[in-house]
Amino acid sequence: MRYRLQDGAGRMSREHPHESIVIVDMGSQTAMLIARRVRELNVYCELLPPTATRADVARLRARGVILSGGPSSVHDADAPRAPEWALDGGLPTLGICYGMQELAHRLGGRVAPGREREFGAASLTVCDNQSALLRGLPSPLPVWMSHGDRVEAMPSGFETLAATETIPIAAMANGAGLYGIQFHPEVVHTPNGGELLRNFVLEICGCSGDWTAEHFITETVAEIRAQVGDRRVICGLSGGVDSAVAATLVHRAVGDQLTCVFVDNGLLRRGEREQVEETFSRQLHIDLRTVEAGDRFLEELAGVTDPETKRKRVGETFIAVFEEAARELGEVDFLVQGTLYPDVVESAGSGTGGATATIKSHHNVGGLPEDLRFELVEPLRYLFKDEVRAVGRELELPEEIVERQPFPGPGLSIRIIGPVTHEKVSVLQAADAVVMEEVQAAGLERELWQSFAILTDTRTVGVQGDARTYGWVAALRAVTADDAMTADWARLPAELLGRIANRIVNEVPQVNRVVYDITSKPPGTIEWE
Ligand code: XMP
Repeated sequence: MRYRLQDGAGRMSREHPHESIVIVDMGSQTAMLIARRVRELNVYCELLPPTATRADVARLRARGVILSGGPSSVHDADAPRAPEWALDGGLPTLGICYGMQELAHRLGGRVAPGREREFGAASLTVCDNQSALLRGLPSPLPVWMSHGDRVEAMPSGFETLAATETIPIAAMANGAGLYGIQFHPEVVHTPNGGELLRNFVLEICGCSGDWTAEHFITETVAEIRAQVGDRRVICGLSGGVDSAVAATLVHRAVGDQLTCVFVDNGLLRRGEREQVEETFSRQLHIDLRTVEAGDRFLEELAGVTDPETKRKRVGETFIAVFEEAARELGEVDFLVQGTLYPDVVESAGSGTGGATATIKSHHNVGGLPEDLRFELVEPLRYLFKDEVRAVGRELELPEEIVERQPFPGPGLSIRIIGPVTHEKVSVLQAADAVVMEEVQAAGLERELWQSFAILTDTRTVGVQGDARTYGWVAALRAVTADDAMTADWARLPAELLGRIANRIVNEVPQVNRVVYDITSKPPGTIEWE
């Protein structure tokens, strides 16, 4: 169980982007990746369900449509159907895989089951290198395929743009803005996929590609002002980049109407509280209330060894402390949350049911009592993590915050195996500080997804000077990852490992042995708990 204040909710989507690409989610695993690729072109985009209306598209000022792939066959009775507004030629449309088949099927072409499923790399021969979609791309072109059905006869008015050995119609166009491709340009295994999408989004749809961090900040600050008016806002800071960026945006918008609350749960990494206070209070002049609650959290954790119970206790205590702090502020109407786009889409459930449309708008914060309800301000709900970092940089937040590694909500309590005590927290903070310093000195902080120390529940014999010792075993964890779903243990240089171990046993007397975790995820997790 992951501790979250609430599940994704709030407004349906951005009010007025000046241009966008609409991605119709036909149930693909990679619909989110298509969105990432479009955003990389500095073009705003949103995933919409196939049930989205012309009015949704107009509101987003869409300049083009991408129909994603999906697991269905166009012949299935319950297959997702592309919306009319994506097929009538009013906007340029690119159908990817299932999206192409649906385009062909609906416009009078023929889609037949492939004799066998094709999955993997293929080589594409470009038949028409003058076509706007494939312009500038090499031929043969390496692409990634994953499909069963395929287009066997194109609708009238369409021409073949490219073929593979097994698929005569691997890309098609009708000269009036409708395109279909059987392969997946959004995955890394299609190395020129980004160029193809650029051709579609910038050349064919005519997007200007000016959706930058700066643009986002201007738009968002105006939206927050309109939402909040002259009322008051509260924001819980966690020390992480999301809440930091969200709070800074809100502060830009409404200044002193914002109060930030930072709960010091006594389970933080060394220097974290000071960093938050320095940045928000002294540099940004934000009204920051730090609640010193370390003892309270430790009391709640006394004697607890089960990781789930630790998470639960920390979560509940946080809610209680935050609630008290909020009540002290008096009349507050809004709560800032650093919800990101992947949370929004995931919490709505992906696939043909249609991601975003099912998000209901509510104004509650799970866990807080009935009489303490806030309307949410979620300025990051359309951003991906790296976009949040870019916005943080544009807002001139310190690099240490912008580039901060993820840190679990229950903090050091789940990095101390067994019961959590004051002493163990201090021991782990000291050992962990050595890891942070050395990783930073080696310039590896950004390369690593996470790097930290764990205090195990095991004691071993050691020898120091003439005396035998009986001390704790500390473990070192350092992983590389693109997201936290999978991770690999980092091949840290042996000298660095040696230096870290040496410093820990010398500087932290309670620890006399250091081990390095060489387990990947899966089957291991990143945290030990
Ligand atoms: P695991 O240990 O499951 O962790 O491989 C995956 C990622 O999630 C982080 N993590 C958390 N983040 N609240 C959070 O915000 C939590 O309760 C929590 N637990 C784990 C972990 O640090 C890793 O990045």
